[in-house]
Amino acid sequence: MGVTAKIAPSMLSSDFANLASEAQRMLDCGADWLHMDIMDGHFVPNLTLGAPVIKSLRKHTKAYLDCHLMVTNPLDYVEPLGDAGASGFTFHVEVSKENWQELVKKVKSKGMKPGVALRPGTPIEEVYPLVEGENPVEMVLVMTVEPGFGGQKFMPETMEKVCVLRAKYPSLDIEVDGGLGPSTIDMAASAGANCIVAGSSVFGSPEPAQVILHMRKSVEEVQSSS
Ligand code: DX5
Ligand code: ZN
Repeated sequence: MGVTAKIAPSMLSSDFANLASEAQRMLDCGADWLHMDIMDGHFVPNLTLGAPVIKSLRKHTKAYLDCHLMVTNPLDYVEPLGDAGASGFTFHVEVSKENWQELVKKVKSKGMKPGVALRPGTPIEEVYPLVEGENPVEMVLVMTVEPGFGGQKFMPETMEKVCVLRAKYPSLDIEVDGGLGPSTIDMAASAGANCIVAGSSVFGSPEPAQVILHMRKSVEEVQSSS
């Protein structure tokens, strides 16, 4: 049984001054989720948005808001993001070794879907306990660039982690993020990724709907033959 394709444009590449209309434009182009990059200027050297922006956006859309927490203290963000209307809450394993169980529990109690992300240099084994725990995460985000900025080059060497994960967990949502677009999607899809984040390739295209469709087809082809 395959998993479903979820194409998630990264709103980091959108015009932040027009976030609501940019979100709607992506949904009209066929996006399944909206990927929201939350950075604290500490875990990564960039500062983006937080719960107040999610709360404002939520007033304009019912879409699934896939929040990627690039922050040093994810626990501090659970309640405000849950109250703001976030849908997914994906924290980084590198900063959650001590408290991931508490984090997952709280994320679920706020009605959000818990996910765990890992940097390109972090070994995949580090997420196994979180996927296999009695209160498990429901998605693993394999970063395909160093987190922090949009527009970076896809790192093909991260695909090995996706392959290993897919072989081990056939029905897990596996997300990839960074440098995804028409020229890299086949590598990610054939490795087994089904949730695809893409910023610059979608927002930088004159035909974003075509880019989204291309990526969806690539994932669906692989999943229907698995
Ligand atoms: C990077 C972010 C990504 C980023 C992806 O730290 O997590 O979501 O916006 O952008 P592209 O698709 O341009 O690499
Ligand atoms: Zn992201």
